[in-house]
Amino acid sequence: MRPDSNRPGSFGRKELVMAKNRWFASLGSRSRHEELEPDDYGCEQEDPGEDSASGEENAETDELDQPEPCKELADGAKAGGLVTEQGTEGESRSLQVPEDQGLVWEPSAEDMIYSAFDASQPANQPVDLRGRDNELRTLLGAVLYRRNHAFIAGLRGSGKTSLLRVFGHLADRDGVVVVNTSCAKDTQFGALFRELLEQIPYSCVDPDKADLFESRVEAFGRDGTPLQAVTIAAMVEYSQVVMVIDEFDRVQCEEARADIAATLKLISDRRLPVRMVLAGDEASFVDIIDSHPSLLRHVTQVLTKPLEESAILSLFDICSSRSGISFSDEAKDLLVRTAMGSPYHARLFGMNAAIVAAGRGSKVVSEKDAYTGLAHSYQEWASINPDDATVFRRIVDGWHGNPARFVELSKALVSPKGSMSDALENAVPELRDREVTEELDAFGGALVHTKEGAVFRDGTAPQFLVALQAIGREHTRRKYASEEADV
Ligand SMILES: Nc1ncnc2c1ncn2[C@@H]1O[C@H](COP(=O)(O)OP(=O)(O)OP(=O)(O)O)[C@@H](O)[C@H]1O
Ligand SMILES: [Mg+2]
Repeated sequence: MRPDSNRPGSFGRKELVMAKNRWFASLGSRSRHEELEPDDYGCEQEDPGEDSASGEENAETDELDQPEPCKELADGAKAGGLVTEQGTEGESRSLQVPEDQGLVWEPSAEDMIYSAFDASQPANQPVDLRGRDNELRTLLGAVLYRRNHAFIAGLRGSGKTSLLRVFGHLADRDGVVVVNTSCAKDTQFGALFRELLEQIPYSCVDPDKADLFESRVEAFGRDGTPLQAVTIAAMVEYSQVVMVIDEFDRVQCEEARADIAATLKLISDRRLPVRMVLAGDEASFVDIIDSHPSLLRHVTQVLTKPLEESAILSLFDICSSRSGISFSDEAKDLLVRTAMGSPYHARLFGMNAAIVAAGRGSKVVSEKDAYTGLAHSYQEWASINPDDATVFRRIVDGWHGNPARFVELSKALVSPKGSMSDALENAVPELRDREVTEELDAFGGALVHTKEGAVFRDGTAPQFLVALQAIGREHTRRKYASEEADV
């Protein structure tokens, strides 16, 4: 993988100071989210609560590999400075124009928080990947030294692509050629492999055979077979090549899946200096192994399990140091519990909570901000997934009895195996040994049933159910609190 060119940050010291001043000015302005009406489950934004943590407290980061310029900018951000960073894909955060003309566009406080929390893009640098040292070590060891293929399996948003990207950077640094592609629903084997072969530099093949290599790649078309693909890959002599295939679970064509599995096997049997690393859900890993059971020996499975609490806290710390917004202990506690180990949800919930805090002019996210941030996150999700949102609202409203049962069940489904049987064993002892059909029925179409058990149709959904329940509980708590006050 060619590391993305790290463009130098386009802000100099002067711009940093200007941005810092704008940041302080914008803290007082109303945020987009503040203008949203909280729904029934939302929390009214009350007077700013006590800020129980300072920005400095959270500034420390446990860096795996933090480039120097990043540290310098983090200091700027700590002081309320600009949220940008050299060495990441943050180049779009600034527009550089001649000094005397000023900036034609200024990032708002919200923009800065968005880019610090970066919930919509995979992590790219080792420093951004928290709590995955073991997985990274396993992946590097398996692929570069044990010469195995690898399959990264995990739930949506658990960090598969992020792990792939950081792995790619580190492998590239080790002199390995990494080529990438990603699958779609209609992916066919020929087109997929052609894309990978085209990225292999000629320097990997014997110079006398470079023309032959080129012509073979050009001739490899939509109807290319695994055997032809491997014959071309066999021309690689002078480098180790790693072929990365992301989103493998999206491939619907069974023949394409089977061809990819066959290619893995052929590559291993021929001892080629070529390895493949795939990412997808656990069911698609099982699929690959089913079609070639002997692949179990050649493919190392790396699971992106829910992150440990300490990793999520460390993720908040790095986002805090970049945005200048820190979290009170109570807010962290609530967000960590609701994210349930998912880095995507942690970033999303943290981001929305930070925007609420900034909107009321604070640099510390209080527990109330965190509840409101969860409500906004839920609203955003519900607007794009109204069907599952309706199911969840009914559950939390008690249509099917005590909502806690359903929340526990959905937590179980997020557990490492992601499958009903093991998950229930581990996480919900009270549901063990009895039928959970009733609970499953209540989820309606939000759950789909696979060979391995039930999984959420939208893999990001369970955290939103937990968020909804947390907001609802808070809503109820407040309701009763005010009733008590009336008495
Ligand atoms: N270990 C981690 N530490 C911090 N942030 C992470 C980590 N892993 C992932 N993230 C963040 O979580 C979000 C989701 O990550 P990513 O896109 O890699 O997940 P994914 O499993 O590939 O998701 P999908 O299944 O939707 O493709 C991104 O914002 C990414 O930056
Ligand atoms: Mg991904």
